This record gives sequence, C-alpha cells and structure tokens, in this order.
Amino acid sequence: NGAMWILGIDTSCDDTGVGVVRDDRVVSNRVASQTLLHQRHGGVVPELASREHTRVIDPLVQTALQEAGISVHDLDLVAATKGPGLIGALLVGYTYGKGLAFALDKPFVAVHHLEGHLYAALAEHPEVTPPFLALVASGGHTHLFEVRAWGQYQLLGATMDDAAGEAFDKVARLLGLGYPGGPEIERLAREGNPQSVPLSLPLKDQSGLAFSFSGLKTAVARALEKGYARADIAAAFQRVAVEHLASVVVRAAKSHGHSTLLVAGGVAQNSALRARLQAAGLRLLFPPPGLATDNGAMIALAAGHTWRGQGSALQVPAQPYLPL
Ligand code: KG4
Ligand code: ZN
Repeated sequence: NGAMWILGIDTSCDDTGVGVVRDDRVVSNRVASQTLLHQRHGGVVPELASREHTRVIDPLVQTALQEAGISVHDLDLVAATKGPGLIGALLVGYTYGKGLAFALDKPFVAVHHLEGHLYAALAEHPEVTPPFLALVASGGHTHLFEVRAWGQYQLLGATMDDAAGEAFDKVARLLGLGYPGGPEIERLAREGNPQSVPLSLPLKDQSGLAFSFSGLKTAVARALEKGYARADIAAAFQRVAVEHLASVVVRAAKSHGHSTLLVAGGVAQNSALRARLQAAGLRLLFPPPGLATDNGAMIALAAGHTWRGQGSALQVPAQPYLPL
C-alpha cells in the first residue's frame, strides 16, 4: 500500500488533526490545538470543540496538502476517525472526509481512533510484530489491549470511571494549575516529596485488570483540605497514578506472557510512568513526539495498514461509543 497518498483526519476531541502519509512516511502532520479555547473552562466544552473544528478543518487540510507538496487530486485515499469521541466533534472531520472522498471519487476509510494510536507507535518500529500489549492512556481513554495479530485486539482492562489523563487534568484544576494538567503536575511534582502525602493505591486488591482514578482524585481533594503542600500533593498523586497504571500493566504482562508494551496517548509522555515501566523490564514502544497525542497522520497510517482495496461505506455513521 506504499505508493498511496493518504489524507488522515482526526476530530474526535478537542484538537483538529490533519496528516498526509505516503509509504508509511509522515509527510505532513498538522494539529490545530484548541487548548487555549478550553483552558478557562478546565476541560473540553463539546459545543465549542465542534465549532472550532468546523472553522479550521478546511484551511488545515489545504495547509497539510501544501506542506506535502501535492494537490487534493493526488490523494489516493481519504481517512477519518469514525469514533470513539465527542459526537459533534467527530462528525466534523468524518463528514468532511467522506464529502471530500466522494467529490474526488476516491475511496474513504473509516478508522477507529484507538487503532490510530496503535499504528502511530509502530511508525518507528516496523520490525515489531504481534502479539504484544498496548496501553492507550489519554484524556479520554485508559485502555489496555492485547494485540494478538494485526486487526485482532482483545481488551484486557479499562477504566471504571475517569480516564488517566482526565485524572491529571482534574487534580491539576484542584491544585490551581493550568490545562492540560499532565505536564503541569509533572513539573510541580519535581518540587514535592512523593511520600509525604498518604494516598492509597486504587483497586489494590483486585484480581482483574481494571483501572480507577476517581477515588484518587477525591483523596487529593481531602489532602488539599487538610493543608498538605501543593507540590507534595502533586508528587504523591503522580506517584500513585503511575504506580496504579504500571502495576496493572505489569500484572497483565506476566499473566499473558508479554514483554513488549506499546504505550500511546498523552499520558504516555509522563516520564515517571516511562521510568517505572522500563524498570519493570518491559520493552517499550513509544510513538515519536508528534504522533503521541491526537493527530491526523496516525489515522492515515492506520488506514494504509488496514487497506485491503475496499473503502468503507459512506452510510456508516460516526460512533461516539465504539469498542475496538
Ligand atoms: O492523547 P491526548 O492528547 O488526547 C486527548 O485526550 O485529547 O491526551 C491528553 C491528555 C491530557 O489529559 C493530559 O493531561 C495528559 O494527556 N498528559 C499527561 C502528560 N502530558 C499529557 N499526563 C501525565 N503526564 C504528562 N506528562
Ligand atoms: Zn486519542
């Protein structure tokens, strides 16, 4: 599928992502961030996200094509995220992609957002073959998969409440830090003592592989009321959140006999998490910097890999809830 020019679009949440890929190579990867727009609300406001996607999608596609040095008529395939995500946001990129493909008389490929994250990490590791474990931890997802073969995914565990990144964002808000919270907490945590605030490990007695973050967030709010220093709270929260993620993943690796772990999503940027997983002896596959968070190139990469000569039906609707 190498010689195809593929346009990939992701508007599943708050960032508009448009990428152009050829030969498994990312030729352009443009992301219009909406962080500033949502910042003062402390989280993503769906209606604002949809409007902003609508405003920027077409110019962003033009910019990406320009950067790739091609005209829209050179495209062989148009791919867009079908789900999961915010329905209003999804519809902008998905409908745009379908419309563009239809107008160009080119095939359209509907891509699962999480599959995009998986292929983003593989862009730098073409030698990797299944089976392996994959953790997708972002503002919207905390999913642990076993990739048994290409296109064959088994969900081993997911969050029972908040997503990991959402927990970082909510705790950051409690501590009066900016949005997105992950990098802010990581920064403040360096000035604190991770052991000075007692926070218990979520689901520590479970035999399964589930995640939970809402209790931890509540415990942070209590600690704040008790007057613990903000930096100590940030450090302790990060320690426990990382330990929770890592302990579940390491248990899954042992029980399912895996030593390779693909890590994707914004939370994968966390250096404490990386260090903890590395120390556990896992071989880690990270997406390259620009492909770790939501983007369009990963959708184009996934479309290229899964392409079998047949486009998706244009009637298939976008789906806010969509298991992989
Ligand atoms: O993959 P991503 O950009 O997709 C969305 O969910 O839209 O992930 C963003 C999430 C945010 O919740 C952010 O706080 C978190 O990833 N994040 C981090 C770090 N960098 C970003 N969480 C922990 N540590 C980080 N260094
Ligand atoms: Zn994502």
